Formats: sequence, C-alpha cells, structure tokens
Amino acid sequence: MRRRAAVLGATGIVGQRLVSILSRHPWFELVAITASEKSSGRKYGEAVNWVIEDPIPESVKDLVLQQSLTDDVDIVFSALSADVAAEVEVNLARKGYFVVSNASNMRLDSTVPLLNPEVNAGHIEVLELQRKLYGWEGAILKVPNCVTAILTLALKPIFDEFGVDLVVVSTMQAISGAGLSGLPAMSIQDNIIPHIEGEEAKVENETRKIFGKLEQRGIVQCSINVTASCHRVPVLEGHSIAVFARLMKNTDPDEVIRAIESFKTNEIRNFGLPTAPKKPIIVRREVDRPQPRLDRKEGMAVVVGRIREDRALGGIKFFALGHNTIRGAAGTAVLIAELAVAKNLL
Ligand SMILES: NC(=O)c1ccc[n+]([C@@H]2O[C@H](COP(=O)([O-])OP(=O)(O)OC[C@H]3O[C@@H](n4cnc5c(N)ncnc54)[C@H](OP(=O)(O)O)[C@@H]3O)[C@@H](O)[C@H]2O)c1
Repeated sequence: MRRRAAVLGATGIVGQRLVSILSRHPWFELVAITASEKSSGRKYGEAVNWVIEDPIPESVKDLVLQQSLTDDVDIVFSALSADVAAEVEVNLARKGYFVVSNASNMRLDSTVPLLNPEVNAGHIEVLELQRKLYGWEGAILKVPNCVTAILTLALKPIFDEFGVDLVVVSTMQAISGAGLSGLPAMSIQDNIIPHIEGEEAKVENETRKIFGKLEQRGIVQCSINVTASCHRVPVLEGHSIAVFARLMKNTDPDEVIRAIESFKTNEIRNFGLPTAPKKPIIVRREVDRPQPRLDRKEGMAVVVGRIREDRALGGIKFFALGHNTIRGAAGTAVLIAELAVAKNLL
C-alpha cells in the first residue's frame, strides 16, 4: 500500500517538482496540497503557474489547495519559505506528522537530521534523540541547501579516500534557486549578482554538519574549513560550483577519478530506493563539461569535470554541476522519505 503524502507550498518551484515526482512514485500517493491564502480553495490546475518541463500531472489538477494541512497523511513534504515553515513545521511535528522539509530553519539543530542520503544516511538515527528532546510524536528532517547538497555529494568519495581539510567554493547559481517570483528579468538578464542572502554561511555550516558525526548529544559538525562565495547567474536551472579542496593524502587526478567512479554509497544501495540514481556522481572528461544546459538532465546525479591538481592548495580542483530543484531540493526530499520507509520509521 502506498503511503499518503502531502506537499506544503505546492505551487512554488520546489513544490511543483515535488508534485511531479510524487505523482508517479511507487511508494507515495499525493493526497493533499497547501499554498498561501491567495491560492487556497482553488483547484491546483487553475491556481498554479506551472513552469517545469514535465506536464502538470492529471491526477493533481483537481486537488483543492488548502491553507493549512488537516488531512491524515503518513508524510509531509514541505516547500515553504523558512519564515512560514518555522511555525508550521513544528506544529505539525508536535501533532505527530513526519515532515521532510526544504526550508532552511532548524537545519543546524544538532537533533535534526540534515540528510543527503548517499553521504550521511546514518544521521537519520538522531530522530530518536529529537523526539525525546522536543517531546514530538512526529519528526522534522531537513534537506540541505541546494549548493550544499550538490557539493557534499561530489566531495563524498574524495573525503572518504583522501581526507579533506579545506574546501573553497565559488558558485554560479540558477535563477530558479530564488523561487518562482524571486528575481525580475531586469535584474538578472545580461548580468551576474554577486550576493545571495545567507547562502555562504549555509554552504559553510551545512557542509560541516553533513560530514559531521552522530554522537550521544546529537550531530556534531566536523572541523573541515569551508569558505564559499555565492553568485546568481542567468541560467534557469542547474547550479555550477568551482571547487578547490586541500587533501590530507597525496594523490593525483587519476586516482581521484577512480575513487569517484568506484563510489558505492554503501549505506543506501542495498535498500533499492526508487529515487536513488544508479550512479550518483558522473565524471565527464571533456574540458568543457559539465554545463547546466547539457548536464542538468541527470537530475539526482551530480556531474563533475575538469578534475585537476591544485598545486597552490595541495590538493585538487574541479567543476561540479547539479540540478538545484531536484538534487538540491525535491528529489533529495523524496529520497530521504524513501530512506525513512526503508528504515521502518514511517
Ligand atoms: N528554489 C530552489 O532551488 C530551492 C532549493 C533548495 C531549497 N529551497 C527552499 O525550498 C522552499 C521553497 O522554495 P521555492 O523556490 O519553491 O519558493 P517559491 O517558488 O517562492 O514557493 C513558495 C511556496 O510557499 C507558498 N507560501 C507562501 N507563503 C505562504 C504561507 N503564508 N502559507 C502557506 N504557503 C505559503 C507559496 O504559495 P503561493 O503560490 O500561494 O504564494 C508557494 O507554494 C524555500 O524554503 C527555499 O529556501 C529552494
């Protein structure tokens, strides 16, 4: 039997991705959707400004948008902004709902799993402590920031094989990362905006948490130094990242490529999760790949290229690309939910 699912913020960009993925999901059935006051009471097909490439699913067109969730569902996917999510998600967890959220509030709480399943699936075990500490019957699990999700997946085999103690990143982030009404064309066409509010701290702190350790008192951040400069560029979807990593073992680019290509995602591959890509990291050897327009179709997989030595830093540098609303948001949310099902948590 499929589990009953709800999407909060279903009309937004991440909400639309969730609706699209869930409408054809073997384990979940989308039965409830919410949006703001301006959309609630309307049929989804009439209220939504559908912007993603897949057609709007027939099964969802007639669902009526609610302003708040009242249905009895097994799992809630949240695509609300952090200010709205802060109150809504905690209330739902208190009422017993299992919430997987894309919003940035509580991502650094040491009892909230911040999950990129191929990287740190084991952190889901912190839920026991979360329930004890907050007294919730439900739970809150968080999807990492979009850049962090792409970066930590690309770094995982390198981190495991060679050790990483310093990461420098410079990002080129798509417009869709700012939400459906995030950026007027006049601001971004023919332009680059060298500031994304709060983004650099998210990338730095969340990366340390994801590579951190689960201890008795919760998840403890690791000591990798991470420094980020984040920029918005006129690309519709797909975040690109120039990554520079200082490694703790001497190596060369060929060995790094071998480590990435033999990356096994041991923790989750035996579960057979429907949204887990067979190859979570794809290496391109052409000098001019990855590119957002050509490579974002990989969806849940991150594409890396230009892997080369970084003599100045004592390590390697490479270019990574990931789909910001799939790997960076909705797809990872669904993968987290699948992991929870596989671990009998819902
Ligand atoms: N875009 C990305 O690439 C990305 C990546 C990672 C994480 N995130 C995070 O995911 C969340 C959603 O982002 P987005 O880009 O999808 O934003 P968005 O396009 O602006 O969508 C926001 C959604 O929230 C709804 N909403 C707004 N105010 C509300 C309220 N008071 N009560 C209930 N619903 C309300 C909106 O409904 P209406 O249509 O009725 O206004 C809409 O469905 C954010 O927390 C964002 O930081 C986004």
